[in-house]
Amino acid sequence: MQRSSLKSKKVKEQEIAVRKAWRSTYKNSYEEGLHFLLQGLNAEEFSTDKVLHQIRDKTPIQYILKKWFFYDGEYILDNHVLIPRPETELLVDHIIQNFSDCSTILDLGTGSGCIAIEISKKLLNSKVTGTDISKKALEIANTNNLQSSNPVNFILSNWFSEIDECFDLIVSNPPYISEKEELDESLKFEPQSALISKNEGLFDLEQIISQARHYLSEGGALLMEHGIDQESALTQKMLNNSYKKIELIKDLKGINRFILGYK
Ligand SMILES: C[S@@+](CC[C@H](N)C(=O)[O-])C[C@H]1O[C@@H](n2cnc3c(N)ncnc32)[C@H](O)[C@@H]1O
Repeated sequence: MQRSSLKSKKVKEQEIAVRKAWRSTYKNSYEEGLHFLLQGLNAEEFSTDKVLHQIRDKTPIQYILKKWFFYDGEYILDNHVLIPRPETELLVDHIIQNFSDCSTILDLGTGSGCIAIEISKKLLNSKVTGTDISKKALEIANTNNLQSSNPVNFILSNWFSEIDECFDLIVSNPPYISEKEELDESLKFEPQSALISKNEGLFDLEQIISQARHYLSEGGALLMEHGIDQESALTQKMLNNSYKKIELIKDLKGINRFILGYK
Protein backbone atom coordinates (compact mmCIF):
# COMPACT_ATOMS: atom_id res chain seq x y z
CA MET A 1 0.00 0.00 0.00
CA GLN A 2 1.32 3.48 -0.87
CA ARG A 3 2.40 5.91 1.88
CA SER A 4 -0.33 8.50 1.15
CA SER A 5 -3.17 5.95 1.25
CA LEU A 6 -1.73 4.49 4.50
CA LYS A 7 -1.80 8.00 5.96
CA SER A 8 -5.33 8.69 4.78
CA LYS A 9 -6.47 5.33 6.25
CA LYS A 10 -4.95 6.37 9.59
CA VAL A 11 -6.61 9.82 9.41
CA LYS A 12 -10.00 8.24 8.65
CA GLU A 13 -9.67 5.81 11.55
CA GLN A 14 -8.66 8.67 13.85
CA GLU A 15 -11.66 10.72 12.67
CA ILE A 16 -14.09 7.87 13.39
CA ALA A 17 -12.60 7.34 16.88
CA VAL A 18 -12.66 11.10 17.62
CA ARG A 19 -16.31 11.43 16.55
CA LYS A 20 -17.26 8.46 18.74
CA ALA A 21 -15.44 9.84 21.81
CA TRP A 22 -16.92 13.31 21.18
CA ARG A 23 -20.49 11.99 20.98
CA SER A 24 -20.10 9.98 24.15
CA THR A 25 -18.69 13.04 26.00
CA TYR A 26 -20.66 15.98 24.58
CA LYS A 27 -23.66 14.13 23.02
CA ASN A 28 -24.95 16.37 20.21
CA SER A 29 -23.91 19.67 21.79
CA TYR A 30 -20.86 21.76 20.92
CA GLU A 31 -20.77 20.66 17.26
CA GLU A 32 -18.52 23.60 16.33
CA GLY A 33 -15.90 22.24 18.74
CA LEU A 34 -15.87 18.90 16.93
CA HIS A 35 -15.62 20.67 13.59
CA PHE A 36 -12.56 22.74 14.64
CA LEU A 37 -10.96 19.74 16.32
CA LEU A 38 -11.27 17.53 13.23
CA GLN A 39 -9.92 20.31 11.02
CA GLY A 40 -6.89 20.79 13.29
CA LEU A 41 -6.24 17.07 13.66
CA ASN A 42 -6.25 16.61 9.90
CA ALA A 43 -3.65 19.35 9.46
CA GLU A 44 -1.03 17.76 11.74
CA GLU A 45 -0.16 14.42 13.32
CA PHE A 46 -1.47 13.75 16.84
CA SER A 47 -1.45 10.65 19.02
CA THR A 48 -4.99 9.25 18.75
CA ASP A 49 -4.89 7.70 22.24
CA LYS A 50 -3.89 11.01 23.81
CA VAL A 51 -6.56 12.96 21.92
CA LEU A 52 -9.30 10.47 22.91
CA HIS A 53 -8.23 10.72 26.55
CA GLN A 54 -8.31 14.55 26.34
CA ILE A 55 -11.80 14.53 24.78
CA ARG A 56 -13.12 12.27 27.57
CA ASP A 57 -11.47 14.63 30.07
CA LYS A 58 -13.18 17.64 28.41
CA THR A 59 -9.83 19.32 27.76
CA PRO A 60 -10.54 22.50 25.73
CA ILE A 61 -9.89 21.87 22.03
CA GLN A 62 -7.44 24.80 22.00
CA TYR A 63 -5.18 22.88 24.42
CA ILE A 64 -5.62 19.63 22.46
CA LEU A 65 -4.54 21.35 19.24
CA LYS A 66 -1.94 23.44 21.15
CA LYS A 67 -2.86 26.51 19.11
CA TRP A 68 -5.74 28.90 18.49
CA PHE A 69 -6.67 31.87 16.35
CA PHE A 70 -6.76 35.41 17.72
CA TYR A 71 -7.52 38.51 15.67
CA ASP A 72 -5.24 38.14 12.62
CA GLY A 73 -2.85 35.58 14.09
CA GLU A 74 -2.44 31.98 15.14
CA TYR A 75 -1.14 31.44 18.67
CA ILE A 76 0.77 28.51 20.12
CA LEU A 77 -0.70 27.62 23.50
CA ASP A 78 -0.16 25.33 26.45
CA ASN A 79 -1.72 25.15 29.88
CA HIS A 80 0.60 27.91 31.18
CA VAL A 81 -1.31 30.53 29.19
CA LEU A 82 -4.92 31.60 28.96
CA ILE A 83 -6.80 30.66 25.78
CA PRO A 84 -7.24 34.01 23.96
CA ARG A 85 -10.90 35.10 24.07
CA PRO A 86 -13.01 36.68 21.31
CA GLU A 87 -13.97 39.64 23.54
CA THR A 88 -10.28 40.52 23.89
CA GLU A 89 -10.15 40.91 20.09
CA LEU A 90 -12.36 43.99 20.62
CA LEU A 91 -9.69 45.44 22.90
CA VAL A 92 -7.10 45.01 20.14
CA ASP A 93 -9.49 46.50 17.59
CA HIS A 94 -10.15 49.52 19.81
CA ILE A 95 -6.41 50.14 20.17
CA ILE A 96 -5.73 49.83 16.44
CA GLN A 97 -8.63 52.21 15.64
CA ASN A 98 -7.97 54.80 18.34
CA PHE A 99 -4.34 54.64 19.49
CA SER A 100 -2.39 54.22 16.25
CA ASP A 101 -0.33 57.34 17.05
CA CYS A 102 1.12 55.89 20.30
CA SER A 103 4.89 55.48 20.13
CA THR A 104 5.14 53.28 23.20
CA ILE A 105 2.63 50.67 24.39
CA LEU A 106 2.81 48.32 27.39
CA ASP A 107 0.69 45.13 27.68
CA LEU A 108 0.57 43.93 31.30
CA GLY A 109 -0.09 40.21 31.90
CA THR A 110 0.59 39.27 28.30
CA GLY A 111 0.10 35.46 28.58
CA SER A 112 0.45 34.01 25.05
CA GLY A 113 1.39 37.53 23.91
CA CYS A 114 -1.76 37.76 21.78
CA ILE A 115 -2.70 41.39 22.55
CA ALA A 116 0.84 42.78 22.35
CA ILE A 117 1.79 40.84 19.21
CA GLU A 118 -1.38 41.72 17.27
CA ILE A 119 -0.84 45.40 18.12
CA SER A 120 2.83 45.24 17.12
CA LYS A 121 1.87 43.67 13.77
CA LYS A 122 -0.58 46.48 12.94
CA LEU A 123 1.10 49.52 14.52
CA LEU A 124 4.51 49.20 12.95
CA ASN A 125 5.70 52.58 14.28
CA SER A 126 4.91 51.66 17.91
CA LYS A 127 7.38 50.07 20.28
CA VAL A 128 5.43 47.41 22.17
CA THR A 129 6.46 45.87 25.51
CA GLY A 130 4.73 42.89 27.14
CA THR A 131 5.12 41.64 30.72
CA ASP A 132 4.05 38.63 32.70
CA ILE A 133 4.82 37.16 36.11
CA SER A 134 5.00 33.67 34.56
CA LYS A 135 8.31 32.65 32.98
CA LYS A 136 6.59 29.76 31.18
CA ALA A 137 4.01 32.14 29.69
CA LEU A 138 6.79 34.36 28.38
CA GLU A 139 8.48 31.39 26.68
CA ILE A 140 5.23 30.82 24.75
CA ALA A 141 4.88 34.57 24.05
CA ASN A 142 8.43 34.69 22.67
CA THR A 143 7.68 31.80 20.28
CA ASN A 144 4.50 33.54 19.11
CA ASN A 145 6.53 36.73 18.67
CA LEU A 146 8.20 35.25 15.56
CA GLN A 147 5.09 36.14 13.53
CA SER A 148 5.66 39.89 14.03
CA SER A 149 8.00 41.99 11.90
CA ASN A 150 7.94 44.53 14.76
CA PRO A 151 8.73 42.14 17.63
CA VAL A 152 7.46 42.80 21.15
CA ASN A 153 9.98 43.16 23.97
CA PHE A 154 8.83 40.67 26.64
CA ILE A 155 9.88 41.23 30.26
CA LEU A 156 9.38 39.05 33.35
CA SER A 157 7.76 41.41 35.85
CA ASN A 158 5.29 41.51 38.72
CA TRP A 159 3.04 44.19 37.19
CA PHE A 160 5.40 47.23 37.14
CA SER A 161 8.23 45.83 39.30
CA GLU A 162 10.76 45.64 36.41
CA ILE A 163 9.45 48.61 34.41
CA ASP A 164 11.46 51.84 34.45
CA GLU A 165 10.01 53.94 31.61
CA CYS A 166 6.75 55.68 30.70
CA PHE A 167 4.27 54.63 28.00
CA ASP A 168 1.69 56.43 25.84
CA LEU A 169 -0.73 53.53 26.33
CA ILE A 170 -0.90 50.83 28.99
CA VAL A 171 -3.27 47.96 28.23
CA SER A 172 -4.14 44.92 30.33
CA ASN A 173 -6.46 41.95 30.53
CA PRO A 174 -5.57 40.93 34.11
CA PRO A 175 -7.10 38.16 36.26
CA TYR A 176 -10.55 39.38 37.35
CA ILE A 177 -12.64 36.40 38.48
CA SER A 178 -13.55 36.36 42.17
CA GLU A 179 -12.07 33.54 44.26
CA LYS A 180 -15.61 32.98 45.60
CA GLU A 181 -17.04 32.28 42.14
CA GLU A 182 -17.62 28.65 41.23
CA LEU A 183 -15.59 28.11 38.08
CA ASP A 184 -17.11 26.73 34.91
CA GLU A 185 -15.71 23.23 34.21
CA SER A 186 -13.77 24.37 31.12
CA LEU A 187 -11.88 27.05 33.10
CA LYS A 188 -10.30 24.40 35.35
CA PHE A 189 -7.75 23.61 32.63
CA GLU A 190 -6.45 27.18 32.47
CA PRO A 191 -3.80 28.64 34.83
CA GLN A 192 -5.66 29.86 37.91
CA SER A 193 -3.13 32.68 38.30
CA ALA A 194 -4.39 34.03 34.96
CA LEU A 195 -8.03 33.97 36.07
CA ILE A 196 -8.51 34.54 39.79
CA SER A 197 -8.00 37.74 41.75
CA LYS A 198 -8.66 38.58 45.41
CA ASN A 199 -11.18 41.16 46.62
CA GLU A 200 -14.12 40.00 44.46
CA GLY A 201 -11.83 39.86 41.43
CA LEU A 202 -10.85 43.53 41.76
CA PHE A 203 -7.44 43.26 43.45
CA ASP A 204 -5.21 43.16 40.35
CA LEU A 205 -7.29 45.66 38.36
CA GLU A 206 -7.05 48.12 41.28
CA GLN A 207 -3.32 47.51 41.71
CA ILE A 208 -2.82 48.36 38.05
CA ILE A 209 -4.99 51.49 38.25
CA SER A 210 -3.08 52.88 41.22
CA GLN A 211 0.41 52.04 39.89
CA ALA A 212 -0.09 52.81 36.17
CA ARG A 213 -0.22 56.60 36.61
CA HIS A 214 3.52 56.57 37.47
CA TYR A 215 4.28 54.77 34.19
CA LEU A 216 2.06 56.83 31.84
CA SER A 217 3.36 59.69 29.70
CA GLU A 218 1.49 63.02 30.21
CA GLY A 219 -1.94 62.50 28.58
CA GLY A 220 -1.28 58.74 28.28
CA ALA A 221 -4.13 56.23 28.51
CA LEU A 222 -4.86 53.14 30.60
CA LEU A 223 -7.23 50.62 28.97
CA MET A 224 -8.26 47.41 30.75
CA GLU A 225 -10.60 44.47 30.24
CA HIS A 226 -12.72 43.64 33.31
CA GLY A 227 -15.46 41.32 34.54
CA ILE A 228 -19.24 41.74 34.65
CA ASP A 229 -20.47 44.42 37.11
CA GLN A 230 -16.97 45.60 38.07
CA GLU A 231 -17.23 48.94 36.24
CA SER A 232 -18.60 51.06 39.15
CA ALA A 233 -15.82 50.05 41.55
CA LEU A 234 -13.20 50.58 38.84
CA THR A 235 -14.58 53.99 37.81
CA GLN A 236 -14.42 55.06 41.46
CA LYS A 237 -10.84 53.78 41.76
CA MET A 238 -9.87 55.69 38.61
CA LEU A 239 -11.50 58.88 39.92
CA ASN A 240 -9.70 58.48 43.26
CA ASN A 241 -6.44 58.22 41.34
CA SER A 242 -7.18 61.38 39.28
CA TYR A 243 -7.67 59.72 35.89
CA LYS A 244 -9.59 61.89 33.40
CA LYS A 245 -12.10 61.29 30.58
CA ILE A 246 -13.07 57.89 31.97
CA GLU A 247 -14.99 55.82 29.43
CA LEU A 248 -16.75 52.45 29.65
CA ILE A 249 -16.71 50.31 26.52
CA LYS A 250 -19.14 47.44 25.87
CA ASP A 251 -18.45 44.02 24.35
CA LEU A 252 -20.46 42.53 21.47
CA LYS A 253 -23.13 41.32 23.91
CA GLY A 254 -23.64 44.91 25.12
CA ILE A 255 -21.98 44.23 28.49
CA ASN A 256 -19.56 46.80 29.97
CA ARG A 257 -16.23 45.01 29.47
CA PHE A 258 -13.46 47.61 29.14
CA ILE A 259 -12.51 50.76 31.04
CA LEU A 260 -10.40 53.59 29.68
CA GLY A 261 -8.94 56.59 31.50
CA TYR A 262 -6.27 59.23 30.82
CA LYS A 263 -3.51 60.69 32.98
C1 LIG B 1 -6.38 36.92 31.95
S1 LIG B 1 -4.71 36.44 31.55
C2 LIG B 1 -4.51 37.40 30.06
C3 LIG B 1 -3.55 36.81 29.09
C4 LIG B 1 -3.52 37.54 27.73
N1 LIG B 1 -3.17 38.92 27.88
C5 LIG B 1 -4.87 37.41 27.04
O1 LIG B 1 -5.60 38.41 27.00
O2 LIG B 1 -5.19 36.32 26.54
C6 LIG B 1 -3.82 37.34 32.78
C7 LIG B 1 -2.30 37.23 32.70
O3 LIG B 1 -1.76 38.03 33.78
C8 LIG B 1 -0.64 37.36 34.32
N2 LIG B 1 -0.44 37.86 35.70
C9 LIG B 1 -1.12 37.53 36.82
N3 LIG B 1 -0.63 38.19 37.88
C10 LIG B 1 0.39 38.97 37.43
C11 LIG B 1 1.28 39.89 38.04
N4 LIG B 1 1.22 40.14 39.36
N5 LIG B 1 2.19 40.51 37.25
C12 LIG B 1 2.25 40.26 35.92
N6 LIG B 1 1.43 39.40 35.27
C13 LIG B 1 0.50 38.77 36.02
C14 LIG B 1 -0.99 35.88 34.24
O4 LIG B 1 0.17 35.08 34.30
C15 LIG B 1 -1.74 35.82 32.91
O5 LIG B 1 -0.86 35.52 31.85
